[in-house]
Amino acid sequence: MARRKVKAKKRPAALGSPAAAGSAPAAARPDAANVAAASAPVGPAVDLAHIRENIDAVDARIHALLNERAQFAQLVGISKTKSGKAVDFYRPEREAEVLRKALKRNKGPLRDEEIARLFREIMSACLAQQEPLKVAFLGPEGTFTQAAVLKHFGSSIRALPMAAIDEVFHEVEGGIADFGVVPIENSSEGTVNHTLDMFFSSALKICGEVELRIHHCLMGRMSGISDIKRVCAHPQALAQCRGWLDDQLPDVERVAVASNAEGARRARDERGTAAIASRAAAEIYGLTLLANEIEDRADHDAPGVRERYRRCRSVVQAAAAAVGTPRQHDAHRVAAIAQAQVGLRILHRHRGPRKRSIGGESARGLGGAGVAVQGSRFLSEGGALMRDFEARPTLHVSGTISVPGDKSISHRALMLSGLADGTSEVTGFLAGEDCLATLHAMRALGVRIEQSSATHVIIHGSGLHGLKGARRALDMGNAGTAMRLFTGLLAAQRFPSTLIVDASLMKRPMERVAKPLREMGADVRTHDGKPPVEISGARRLRGIDYTMPVASAQVKSAILLAALYADGDTSVTSPAICRDHSERMLLSCGVQLTTVGLRTTLSPPQRLTSQHLNVPGDFSSAAFFIVAGLLGAGSDGLVIENVGLNPTRTGLLDILRSMGGDIEVAHARESGAEPVGDLRVRASALTGVVVPKSLVPLAIDEFPVLFIAAACARGETVIRGAEELRVKESDRIAAMSAGLRTLGVAHDVLPDGMRIEGRPDASAFGGGEVDSHGDHRVAMSFTVASLRAAKPIHIHDVANVATSFPGFVGLARSVGLDVTESEN
Ligand code: S3P
Repeated sequence: MARRKVKAKKRPAALGSPAAAGSAPAAARPDAANVAAASAPVGPAVDLAHIRENIDAVDARIHALLNERAQFAQLVGISKTKSGKAVDFYRPEREAEVLRKALKRNKGPLRDEEIARLFREIMSACLAQQEPLKVAFLGPEGTFTQAAVLKHFGSSIRALPMAAIDEVFHEVEGGIADFGVVPIENSSEGTVNHTLDMFFSSALKICGEVELRIHHCLMGRMSGISDIKRVCAHPQALAQCRGWLDDQLPDVERVAVASNAEGARRARDERGTAAIASRAAAEIYGLTLLANEIEDRADHDAPGVRERYRRCRSVVQAAAAAVGTPRQHDAHRVAAIAQAQVGLRILHRHRGPRKRSIGGESARGLGGAGVAVQGSRFLSEGGALMRDFEARPTLHVSGTISVPGDKSISHRALMLSGLADGTSEVTGFLAGEDCLATLHAMRALGVRIEQSSATHVIIHGSGLHGLKGARRALDMGNAGTAMRLFTGLLAAQRFPSTLIVDASLMKRPMERVAKPLREMGADVRTHDGKPPVEISGARRLRGIDYTMPVASAQVKSAILLAALYADGDTSVTSPAICRDHSERMLLSCGVQLTTVGLRTTLSPPQRLTSQHLNVPGDFSSAAFFIVAGLLGAGSDGLVIENVGLNPTRTGLLDILRSMGGDIEVAHARESGAEPVGDLRVRASALTGVVVPKSLVPLAIDEFPVLFIAAACARGETVIRGAEELRVKESDRIAAMSAGLRTLGVAHDVLPDGMRIEGRPDASAFGGGEVDSHGDHRVAMSFTVASLRAAKPIHIHDVANVATSFPGFVGLARSVGLDVTESEN
């Protein structure tokens, strides 16, 4: 009915037809003859006032027509909603058809690209009346991917910047965003493998494609390029502008950062820093453009890469037809992904060396062998590409820094907030891969989580009994803590779950968690005591009184999470003190819990209250800089602000102080339920010690870097009672021993620790090739060793540093360490 009414009232009229509102006088029509006459060098004077009147009249007609078009779009929306079916407002193929028609009609003088851009905006504005589209994209703001979002969807949408590619996928999968936009290739580096890899585990389809001509600009707060001390940009941008930089800024330091937008942020905040980024980034960050279009190979279109990519997908034909004019070849292509679009079939692809395993076998050493896709139900998405560090010798560090948020607290904040009633807000969240695995898992369990920036998370709790079964196996990646804690949490739910991990975690013991959970009545299956873990759910749990054979915070926390749902109280006793973040946060959420000595008892609550939490800096991340400061800071010291100083975590401080380390705590305070302070560390002459066994659980993650400190101390350091180090992300005793041997450090490996003979001189170590075995803490520890190395240390397989310490290289460089990262 409504449709007929609008039609009868006003029929759409072709632009320029006299039927359109407020038509311009025919004599003033800007046809070819009039334009030619007006541009002739001699002839009658042009009556500008008259032309402007005509422009005003045309504007009035355009305006009326735009609103008329919007009314029709509203009718489309109404009829779609009335149909009662799952509403799919945005139809890329219909947009493509509209654009094709517009381009076919176009006789100029406006260029086809301009017409396409304008019509896209018109469609975007009209669509926004039906339902503003939510489009997740690889952020932060100011990236080329955001430019692609605007190009493809217009600006009448809600653009949601995400911190990582997989998050874009998860937002769309979870229905939070209607579409996602991710990069797929780039002219100098080729295919963005992470995006293609995501299609292995994701059901999303490619429904459109945008090609962007990338122009890099140099920007900063300085007035000219002579004031530039360093240039920050994504490694690809640095590579694409290498020729220009060699030519114009040969002696200026080039710093690779996570994104061009991050570079622009640093250019805004740091004196002497310039960035390479898009024009849009200059606007967003208030920077001056110092040079435009500085890319070296503007016309490169990576045909080989494109062909490879084509084999992996088939795009909805009509949408593909609308992406641009055929001659336009570009340096950056971006795919829009959506749920339930037709077309895409990802083919089985041979993969490079990646940390992935089949049936418990380590993938390291599989090389390029194809990983069977049918096995993927039990396999994690795996780590990133193989990456290496080169840490060159340096002597001094200085500065004031802060490290990313605490990993243990960030995991727990997501889980407990997800179970709470109401909305929780977490700032200082660690946006490392491990905690993002927890974030995605909570979303897959039905919890709505918004991430307005990488470190700011808003969690709309589902309530204690509000989680929903995930449609697929939950991928914990490299996150051991998430794996163990989720086993406890999911054991108590009404639905079944499967937890999968990456290759290095496939070797980690899970029975220590499964066993007490079975005592509580849960059905938890492991594979030879290792992941994957399958949980049948729907079991009534009973409270238990459990004594842990090892002092493990992960086991304790898994039991306490299951205990939230048990009939009756649960008590857990630890053989020694271990971290108590779970207890502190449970208390903050209103749970009744008491700790007497080493025994904690929880009474099942009715509900958890929401929280506002500021996560402190991770002491375990600060540890690398604490040791770096002891080896190389001057009298002002190296200052690390806002570090979590929970006494169950700071065993390293006690050990290093007993070795003679000068570490001062300032501004000790409480943040949420956790103690926090600022640390000032000064270079100190260290002496070897026998580490008390009681401190081992309180420094459990810090041993790799403590081994480096011990190797620089005068005399012998003995660490015993630390057999748990053998079941961390790697066998840390073996991995550290191999690296120390390469560097020429005298030591004995013990079943439960190490005896190290330190050398206090400036070049205590040689250099050479060290394998981190995919262990983030091993990789970062050997980076710190460069402060006493005579030659560069090449550290292999470092991609997992991103699991706990995103931005490590940048921060290490900012204090003076000479470390660079490369991909191989
Ligand atoms: C953690 C506990 C420790 C620690 C891990 C994080 C936690 O493991 O090594 O990195 O957040 O509960 P264990 O509980 O196995 O000692």
